[in-house]
Amino acid sequence: MLIDNHGRPINYLRLAVTDRCNLRCFYCMPEDGLNWLSRKELMSYEEMLRACTLLVSMGIQKIRITGGEPFVRKDIMSLLTSISELKGLDELSITTNGVLTAPYVEQLKNIGVKSVNLSLDTLDAGRFFAITRRDEFAAVMATLDELLKHDIEVKINAVVMDGKNTQDIIPLVELTKELPVSVRFIEEMPFNGDGHIYTGLNWDHIRILDTIKEHFPEIKKIEDPAYSTAYNYHVPGHKGDVGIIAAYSRTFCGTCNRVRITPQGTLKNCLYDNGVLNVKDLIRAGKSDADVKESLLIAFNNRVKDGWEAESLGSTGIHESMATIGG
Ligand code: 5AD
Ligand code: SF4
Repeated sequence: MLIDNHGRPINYLRLAVTDRCNLRCFYCMPEDGLNWLSRKELMSYEEMLRACTLLVSMGIQKIRITGGEPFVRKDIMSLLTSISELKGLDELSITTNGVLTAPYVEQLKNIGVKSVNLSLDTLDAGRFFAITRRDEFAAVMATLDELLKHDIEVKINAVVMDGKNTQDIIPLVELTKELPVSVRFIEEMPFNGDGHIYTGLNWDHIRILDTIKEHFPEIKKIEDPAYSTAYNYHVPGHKGDVGIIAAYSRTFCGTCNRVRITPQGTLKNCLYDNGVLNVKDLIRAGKSDADVKESLLIAFNNRVKDGWEAESLGSTGIHESMATIGG
């Protein structure tokens, strides 16, 4: 098992396979997109698979594929299939915006994907367009349908934004009445590629919970799974659950079990750090498995205590987009 310098197990890798996306979510990137990485700057599938193989041999048990939007990268199913076959990996999951995903759901099920996180900040097509700047609400809902039909566990990620979608909080909780989904409200973070000025958090986890409690006073706290970043709740009689993720308040760092690899191959020990090692560069320099593992171990032994410490070390990552960090 991998244990960091603060005694925390590391068993979870979030691998961002592209910075590109077919949506332009207000909280993630500017309307005209980002300076997309060139093909050469991106990790190849071969390089990603080598990194994953090494990390799984070191103790990573769960891999989540993120982006950008994973399904805009060509032939993504071939990478997912190879990763799903890694011995020692217990869980492969995906975060997607659901625009292109519906036709792949059957294949995802076949390679053993049990859980998908779907980004969906509103149940109103007009507000969906205002937030994502693309008219793709129906496609996302079709993906939701398809996932549920295939008995894949669905977590809906909704970023709560002042003046944009706070009127969706209650309808999204209501969605859990008939659907066995977990709707997770996420505090907005500053990682928007400077598409807008982040003026601080207006809707923190406490205000989100208070708003939900006003409408659902009967809502109950339920047990949080190990390493959960969400506080989890259940409205009696509902099929699904509700989660609140204090992504900006950073209340969960004490049990942080995750590391990230960005689309350009940078290892991040924390969402709020600047990157601690470039894995792609090591691979391209022809390093042996033992050498790459040694570098990874050194990095894991130098993890910051929490996201506040990472930020205080002069993170410039604050100006980045979640699409280049890995959502
Ligand atoms: N703040 C909070 N969450 C964000 N995401 C992207 N940008 C931000 C941000 N600025 C999350 C959303 C989305 C996932 C891909 O990344 O939850 O669903
Ligand atoms: Fe794309 Fe996700 Fe960023 Fe939205 S949040 S623009 S869906 S990468």
